[in-house]
Amino acid sequence: MNTIEHVKLKEIPKVHDERGSLAVIEKEVIPFSIKRVYYLYDVPSDSFRGGHAHKEQQSVIIALSGSFDVFVDDGNSKKRIMLNKPNQGLYIPTHIWREIDNFSSGAVCLVLASTTYDESEYIRDYKDFLLAVR
Ligand code: TYD
Repeated sequence: MNTIEHVKLKEIPKVHDERGSLAVIEKEVIPFSIKRVYYLYDVPSDSFRGGHAHKEQQSVIIALSGSFDVFVDDGNSKKRIMLNKPNQGLYIPTHIWREIDNFSSGAVCLVLASTTYDESEYIRDYKDFLLAVR
């Protein structure tokens, strides 16, 4: 079973010059093939997103703009990671509970996902999550 040790920050290569920065996501950066891209924006600062784990979906979360905290939990250990760099992605494998909060004004949270949207592969109840991972 995956643990929070498998949750990893990945550097997204960037090209920087006096005109600004350009970050490039090619297949070497993402450890799965991307089936879906979605993003959260206009998120109130006191909002709380996530609150689920996935049976199938792996994802990479990127703070395209602004910042937010990603809290991850494998059922035994937990950690909180602040994302605030558009050229950093947080890889989250299956069976990791995640919550996202502390959104800055203007934050955009991009999610690259390995699956299409399928509600049946979500684990939305924390007790069910603990039963699945323990
Ligand atoms: P939800 O899982 O609550 O979002 P988050 O994990 O960011 O807090 O999803 C919010 C709503 O959007 C919910 O009704 C399901 C729907 N949704 C889709 O229709 N397609 C998608 O790809 C995603 C991620 C969510």
